[in-house]
Amino acid sequence: MSDLLVQASSEEEMLSAGEIFARDLNPSDVVALCGQLGAGKTHFSKGIVSGLGAVEPVTSPTFSLVNEYRTGRLPVFHFDFYRLEEASELVTIGWDDYLEEDGVVIVEWADKFQELLPEETIWLDLSIRENGVHEITRQ
Ligand SMILES: Nc1ncnc2c1ncn2[C@@H]1O[C@H](COP(=O)(O)OP(=O)(O)OP(=O)(O)O)[C@@H](O)[C@H]1O
Ligand SMILES: [Mg+2]
Repeated sequence: MSDLLVQASSEEEMLSAGEIFARDLNPSDVVALCGQLGAGKTHFSKGIVSGLGAVEPVTSPTFSLVNEYRTGRLPVFHFDFYRLEEASELVTIGWDDYLEEDGVVIVEWADKFQELLPEETIWLDLSIRENGVHEITRQ
């Protein structure tokens, strides 16, 4: 079963959806974002980071694998598994340590390495409807 969480028809609406979602986040929460290229995973993540009060500019971690934001209510560790080829690469950069920190972990393309995500992970699916509206459902 999945619940419709958000319908956003602009970049700005996606950012504010992330900001609202961030209000309920707690230390050690892990948010997995799945969905097609361009579904809005990075924009929703930007909203979460700004909703938690971080002031650093947010960029896509597609190439860096992880970006860290430590100026808000909770630290945020924003991952993107899109270019990740092996789980061992993630272990090398300290995946387990990130999970143990009292921060929020966000993972774009988390379904590529689903087995790495803790059991209590919040799984969200992003998709684009035929009318162009971006939708987020919670699994
Ligand atoms: N709700 C929305 N309505 C309209 N456009 C949106 C919405 N959300 C994001 N966009 C636009 O879609 C494009 C892709 O957004 P974004 O980079 O956040 O997607 P993504 O899922 O992270 O993509 P990728 O799979 O490449 O990581 C951007 O140009 C962004 O401005
Ligand atoms: Mg992205």
